Amino acid sequence: MKIAFVGKGGSGKTTLSSLFVRHLAASGRPVVAVDADINQHLGAALGLTDEEAAAVEPLGGRLPLIKEYLRGSNPRIASADEMIKTTPPGSGSRLLSLTGDNPVYDACARRVQLDGGAVRFLATGPFTEDDLGVSCYHSKTGAVELMLNHLRDGAGEYLVVDMTAGADSFASGMFTRFDATFLVAEPTRKGVSVYRQYRDYARSFGVNLRVIGNKVQNADDAEFLREHVGCDLLVTMGQSEYVRAVEKGRTPAFATLEPDNRRALATVKEAADAAIRLRDAERWTRQAVEFHLRNARGWGNARTGRDLAQQIDPDFRWEEAPSPQLV
Ligand SMILES: Nc1ncnc2c1ncn2[C@@H]1O[C@H](COP(=O)(O)OP(=O)(O)OP(=O)(O)O)[C@@H](O)[C@H]1O
Ligand SMILES: [Mg+2]
Repeated sequence: MKIAFVGKGGSGKTTLSSLFVRHLAASGRPVVAVDADINQHLGAALGLTDEEAAAVEPLGGRLPLIKEYLRGSNPRIASADEMIKTTPPGSGSRLLSLTGDNPVYDACARRVQLDGGAVRFLATGPFTEDDLGVSCYHSKTGAVELMLNHLRDGAGEYLVVDMTAGADSFASGMFTRFDATFLVAEPTRKGVSVYRQYRDYARSFGVNLRVIGNKVQNADDAEFLREHVGCDLLVTMGQSEYVRAVEKGRTPAFATLEPDNRRALATVKEAADAAIRLRDAERWTRQAVEFHLRNARGWGNARTGRDLAQQIDPDFRWEEAPSPQLV
């Protein structure tokens, strides 16, 4: 299951991503956690020291390797240089799985031991001012978008991405690649206005969007969110002593997370799991093609000197592509 946490800066995306990852790990599920936020803090929230987090090899720096691996023997992609972040898989492409090894994980993933189980951790690397330009081809999140487009995953295994809800996420098709998108909103006017903007854009693409109210301290906070978010409000989280302790660099047992917050995470997992029923292979492929053509025309063709529309393999069927473990 491909899961994104988005929201306004400071709303608690990283905190909730990390709690959700811990919750999944504690239930023994395979998890790949990806830090794709402008502020790279997921590693620390998962308990890495600053040195350990800084030593994680950024995906953004290994794009040539990632492209070379994913293109495999796809005859429509003559070289890794011609692959852009939206290049879809075709016959001969390699697919990724959430379990097992591959050169991308070998190069960039760091194993993080959490209560109950280890997870794989990946990071895009810090963003610079340059990276934030709209449709900018060296956008660090391009590596994650390529991974999402080449990932074969199923129920009970999870890719959890901590990302922004800024305009940057709409510059590419990445926001359409998730089974479930959880928007973290504080009970403030700004919090709900980010929700409205995201919803209005994402809805037209069929994005499965639910809101997690965060730092909800009283009945008035909860009422405010219900009033402004309506039935998109999935659940609320309170102020957490556990989170405060992690922030101080302590390592409390995950079992000490407050029962209400633990129940909230179980609700988030149920919503994530239920999203398998919303999968639509036809829409998935159509949107991949749509965003690829948009990027090709917008900058990709000019940049590579090729007609990147040719990369689309009309005969490629996800259902028939070989399983990554077999490649
Ligand atoms: N439920 C909570 N209980 C206690 N503290 C919280 C909670 N949620 C978030 N925080 C605190 O609020 C601050 C911001 O949270 P966090 O870093 O997760 O937000 P973010 O949306 O990822 O921010 P950024 O946009 O900077 O990446 C952190 O200090 C975090 O510990
Ligand atoms: Mg963050």
